[in-house]
Amino acid sequence: MSTMSLHTLTLTALLFLGLWTTGRRSLASAPELQEQPKKIAVVGAGIGGTAAAYYLRQEFGAGVKIDVFESGTVCGRLATVKVGDHEYETGGLLIHPLNLHMKHFVEKLGIPLRKDVSSKMAIFDGKELTFEESDWFIINFLRMLWQYGFNLLRMQMWVESILDKFMRIYQYQQYGYSFSSVERLLHAMGGDGFLTLMNQTLEEVMIGEGFSQVFLNDFVAPITRVSCGQSVRIHGFAGASSLAGADSGLWAIDGGNRRVCSGLLYNSKSDLIPARVTSIAVKVRPSKTGSTATFYEVSYVGESGSAHSLYDIVLIATPLHQGKSDIAFSGFSPPMPSHYPGRYHQTVSTVVHGLLNMSYLGTTEPASEFTVSDVRTTDSKGSVIHRLTSLDPVHIPDGYKRPPASHAKVWRVSSPQPLSQEQLRDMFLSWDSVSESRWLAHPAYHPPHRKTPPFILHNRLYYLSAVEWAASTMEMSAISARNVALLAHHRWHGQAGKIDQEDLHTRLRGEL
Ligand SMILES: Cc1cc2nc3c(=O)[nH]c(=O)nc-3n(C[C@H](O)[C@H](O)[C@H](O)COP(=O)(O)OP(=O)(O)OC[C@H]3O[C@@H](n4cnc5c(N)ncnc54)[C@H](O)[C@@H]3O)c2cc1C
Ligand SMILES: *[C@@H]1O[C@H](CO)[C@@H](O)[C@H](O)[C@H]1NC(C)=O
Ligand SMILES: *[C@@H]1O[C@H](CO)[C@@H](O)[C@H](O)[C@H]1NC(C)=O
Repeated sequence: MSTMSLHTLTLTALLFLGLWTTGRRSLASAPELQEQPKKIAVVGAGIGGTAAAYYLRQEFGAGVKIDVFESGTVCGRLATVKVGDHEYETGGLLIHPLNLHMKHFVEKLGIPLRKDVSSKMAIFDGKELTFEESDWFIINFLRMLWQYGFNLLRMQMWVESILDKFMRIYQYQQYGYSFSSVERLLHAMGGDGFLTLMNQTLEEVMIGEGFSQVFLNDFVAPITRVSCGQSVRIHGFAGASSLAGADSGLWAIDGGNRRVCSGLLYNSKSDLIPARVTSIAVKVRPSKTGSTATFYEVSYVGESGSAHSLYDIVLIATPLHQGKSDIAFSGFSPPMPSHYPGRYHQTVSTVVHGLLNMSYLGTTEPASEFTVSDVRTTDSKGSVIHRLTSLDPVHIPDGYKRPPASHAKVWRVSSPQPLSQEQLRDMFLSWDSVSESRWLAHPAYHPPHRKTPPFILHNRLYYLSAVEWAASTMEMSAISARNVALLAHHRWHGQAGKIDQEDLHTRLRGEL
């Protein structure tokens, strides 16, 4: 049926039914009504790709077919390993209480949060424990005050002021606004201040804000080592994100964080294709209306061999970096690289079920009284590890209490290199299982930051993981997923007014 006769028919029907007003509205918008895309591909089924599928469905409606390609395991850097009867997280561990997209997902999907088990932190300098949290708030407060003066309170206020601006993104996205680059997204949240953060090291920024070098070495470095395996010389934005990750009230998903990905795949009614995408080629075809249309031909290799398919829109949700993915782009002009400059940092998670060697931590405290759950380390020569965590299972059984170090239990050692047998023997008196996961976990941040890769690689080809050069967390991937889904929608329908708008903060304040 041609468009013309459809209109005539609708008009007659509406007149007949006496719905002239409604009819007029639908007629007025008819010329702008564009065809929806038929097929969209998402490459990568991590939290980024699956969240993108969820938001794409929201933007484009029920009619579009969404294929999600995954070459490894669904949820990528969120993964668990089984030790005995329980599963434990080997990748992304904790989520901030103000990570609103992650919160929305679990609420929408009806996935419960993991039961909270109180945690206790200590700091290890490679020789001994230089700080140990107590069970008593007031003692902690006095100890911190004694050791770090008011640096700690000021740090909390500083991080809060950044978080405050960061939170603006949720309102922008609620109103449907999107951004064409990471820089523009950051600028919309926090103005030039946020871009300057990307240009300086956390160390420079904090010294500039009046924090002491001792505080940076003793307290801040252990946090950046924990969160991204790097020193205080990462850029200020990733640094602030790390510091926020040391807040209280962090949470995880009952049964394992990776559940959120399969939940999003299911909810978005997208099709999971277990295959590795090998190349993406741009194809121009004549269209019905006489003009030309651009398609992307996605080639992939799965268990049943290789195949290819055409898509209207493609979204890449895996880092385009050495060791992370290897996708050839063909037919693009100018040519597109398979890899962007910059590399990802290795973090090895070694999950050990065993008995800790207390003298490794240089402490004489009896193991039966040692209930520290999170040992962070300073940036000193003696520290071969970044962090030692007493892991709780992904599902906390009723009546669970984290055992003290005198029991054989599950520890997770995070280190830049795999642990040697000798290092293991040093840390543990005995063990009955060891499982190692090697991750290219986070970008290696070297400020001043060169330009981040773009969100828009080509007409309708988008790149979600560019956001990781600002900060790399589950929530950042989710924010980027929503941004890219909005961007894809607005660009498809030619709604330029929803892209890269300046001054949103002031403008939207009026709308509240
Ligand atoms: C050890 C560790 C600890 C962490 N701790 C935290 C934490 O506590 N809190 C937090 O918020 N974040 C944490 N993170 C970071 C967090 O895990 C990541 O930011 C997030 O999971 C990234 O999700 P993503 O979907 O963007 O990327 P990924 O999870 O990497 O997903 C990309 C997917 O694409 C697939 N893929 C790649 N190439 C292809 C191809 N050619 N074809 C098809 N599929 C392909 C991959 O197999 C992968 O599954 C941690 C990460 C690690 C490794
Ligand atoms: C950041 O540094 C780059 C290159 O050094 C520069 O071009 C840019 O203007 C700087 N941005 C800010 C906000 O300082
Ligand atoms: C325990 O740690 C100490 C200190 O690092 C080390 O000397 C010792 O060899 C380790 N192993 C055992 C079994 O005590």
